[in-house]
Amino acid sequence: MTPVSNTVRFVLDGQIVEAQGERRTTTVLDYLREQLHRTGTKEGCAEGDCGACVVMVGELNAAGTGVDYLPVNSCIQLLPSLDGKSIKTIESLKASDGRLHPVQEEMIKCHGSQCGFCTPGIVMSLVNLVQVLPQPSRQQITDSLSGNLCRCTGYTPIIDATFKAVERKTELKIDDSADLPLLKSIQRAKTPTLTLDGDIIVQPVVRTRKGSEFVSPATLAEVADYLQKNPGATLLAGSTEIGLQVNKKFLRPSHIMYLGNVAELRQVTDTAQAWRIGAAVSLATLETLLAQAYPDFSEVLRRFGSPPIRSTATLAGNIANGSPIGDSMPCLMALGASLVLRQGDQTRTVLLENFYTGMKQNVLKTGEFIEVIVLPKPVAGQVFRAHKVSKRFEQDISATCAAISYTLKSGKLSGVKLAYNGLAPSPCRAPKLEAVLEGKTPADVKAADLDAAIAASFTARDGLRATWAYRALVARNLVLDFIEEQTTEVA
Ligand SMILES: Cc1cc2nc3c(=O)[nH]c(=O)nc-3n(C[C@H](O)[C@H](O)[C@H](O)COP(=O)(O)OP(=O)(O)OC[C@H]3O[C@@H](n4cnc5c(N)ncnc54)[C@H](O)[C@@H]3O)c2cc1C
Ligand code: FES
Ligand code: FES
Repeated sequence: MTPVSNTVRFVLDGQIVEAQGERRTTTVLDYLREQLHRTGTKEGCAEGDCGACVVMVGELNAAGTGVDYLPVNSCIQLLPSLDGKSIKTIESLKASDGRLHPVQEEMIKCHGSQCGFCTPGIVMSLVNLVQVLPQPSRQQITDSLSGNLCRCTGYTPIIDATFKAVERKTELKIDDSADLPLLKSIQRAKTPTLTLDGDIIVQPVVRTRKGSEFVSPATLAEVADYLQKNPGATLLAGSTEIGLQVNKKFLRPSHIMYLGNVAELRQVTDTAQAWRIGAAVSLATLETLLAQAYPDFSEVLRRFGSPPIRSTATLAGNIANGSPIGDSMPCLMALGASLVLRQGDQTRTVLLENFYTGMKQNVLKTGEFIEVIVLPKPVAGQVFRAHKVSKRFEQDISATCAAISYTLKSGKLSGVKLAYNGLAPSPCRAPKLEAVLEGKTPADVKAADLDAAIAASFTARDGLRATWAYRALVARNLVLDFIEEQTTEVA
């Protein structure tokens, strides 16, 4: 049973750290630098954009035989979410005899660092990469660095250094043998604590004298129960929105419930017709899961933030946040995804396209949360296309992202579902454009008809990232591209 305490316990380089009396919104970065004086980890932007703060966060693997690592932006992760986990910083890489990791040594030899401010984050991203991919391709290396900005060196020497480092195959794995037993000893409870009457008590990780708290339940039952008793509690999933609000808007929610330890919410259940994706499943997991069935969706996810963002960020967080330029929602809407919403013992299912009621407004009731995202699997002959348009290829916000699903019957577009972000107060389907497409052969679809449908569907607004004229043109051209050269027929 996890004792009630005001202590966050995690493993750092063969030792258990007990962080006591910290605020529930203290970031991992601030704790590392200010309390542990691990100042190798840098603060650049404090909003997940630059990668100077990247560290590796470890969790015991399912078999309990090793540690699985994720690259994480420590600036936007809250310290109490580390409870029961381990962490590796740039300082962790130096062996007791003073030897550096091959990535570090080759960075020096290849002149991969100038001012050095970005270097710890870059090294941690690369060391994380070679833990899982000891022979990465150039593409995998550049992908792993898409969230690490270097202003002075340029990336060529850094990539060269990585190729040199991976030649030293046997030296790439970090030694975490001393962490393993400690990680086991601080595992969080997997079952709820009950009163004698059988009522659930959700034990806090951090609780202040004034009654504010950070809780980290292990089961769905606890989440539902806690939210019923504390309907104003802030749900924390990957922290890639909340972390920004804490740093930039000084958000200090009195009650925070972390979903990252809830086993049921971390699962993807595979049924014949659909994937049921738990609300705490990371985008990185989905990127891999969807690569075969929906390669364009997977590609949109590859361009979503950066690896440290995707390693924690969730679909549910993207959906609940409801940004007009949220990238997963057009894909999900075009695929007919629905949400299982839970309030206490009650659940209801809502199509994602009916979830939003306005700008960042949705149908969630007090005490209700997203439990599962149901994503239908492809059916025979179904075509799915999606593309995100942004100024930069990686780590950028959409001007618009469009997604379409249809089948071709006797050469005609059928069952068309088209959705966008960036054109309306929330991501949405585009029924007037769908009507232009439905029942036509691709060759018969006229650009002018799509333009008219766009004008009739959306309010023309210039935005910071694109003029309306540009967005409207892109919205139309994406559709033309999506239906061009498509010859797959339904059997
Ligand atoms: C550097 C950076 C790059 C980014 N790039 C992109 C991008 O390319 N495309 C894009 O769309 N977004 C992007 N984002 C935004 C963000 O990463 C996404 O919205 C992400 O999916 C949020 O998920 P999360 O799990 O981190 O949410 P959190 O920050 O944990 O939570 C976000 C909101 O959702 C609520 N919430 C979480 N889980 C649930 C649930 N189960 N039920 C109900 N409410 C819930 C929380 O209370 C909170 O209000 C970026 C953010 C950063 C910092
Ligand atoms: S400080 Fe820039 S990503 Fe964290
Ligand atoms: S070495 Fe200066 S920012 Fe990369």
